[in-house]
Amino acid sequence: MIYVAYAVLVITGLGWLIADWGKDVANAELWQEVAASLLMLHGGGAMLTLLLLGALVPLHVQRAWRGRKNRTTGATMVMFNVLLVVTAFGLYYAGSDIVRLWISDVHIAIGMILPALFIIHVLLGRRSARGVRSD
Ligand code: HEM
Ligand code: HEM
Repeated sequence: MIYVAYAVLVITGLGWLIADWGKDVANAELWQEVAASLLMLHGGGAMLTLLLLGALVPLHVQRAWRGRKNRTTGATMVMFNVLLVVTAFGLYYAGSDIVRLWISDVHIAIGMILPALFIIHVLLGRRSARGVRSD
């Protein structure tokens, strides 16, 4: 489920960026509709992800942290996810347009780095689960 949820977030997030760019080039109305649908799917994916992240703390994070396994990329994963959630809140509720633009840039930048971090975390985690030290 975690893999599916993050894939949905990344695909709809990057898709929105393309559609948002596309509406300035041609067929503005069509791209606008595609962008709105993608953002709706992104918001739905985000809700599912928050649910899964909540379950991940007792089921995954606490156990791995106590076992001293994969802590460096694990802690970075937690930090990135916290920043994504905080900036997502800002995207909904930031009053000023300038602040919102800034928050949007941070959210997008972190969202684009996340897939690489995710893959590194899983690969190192699987190594550490096999007994190879990785923190
Ligand atoms: C938001 C935070 C995190 C996410 C989304 C996440 C996600 C994942 C995923 C999807 C896997 C691969 C499981 C599999 O398919 O085999 C994994 C593995 C692993 N992660 Fe994390 N993780 C997070 C935080 C952490 C933290 C904080 C630690 C360590 C303190 C950690 C340690 C590990 C370890 C040791 C493995 C390999 C063994 C296992 O599957 O449990 N993770 N993580
Ligand atoms: C825990 C992870 C994430 C959460 C909770 C989250 C949540 C949100 C929310 C609530 C919005 C605002 C939706 C709206 O205005 O209707 C948003 C916008 C967006 N997100 Fe995410 N997101 C996450 C991860 C990602 C990832 C991985 C990407 C990948 C690039 C991404 C890219 C975007 C983009 C491009 C926008 C539109 C920005 C804008 O309106 O200026 N997000 N996200």
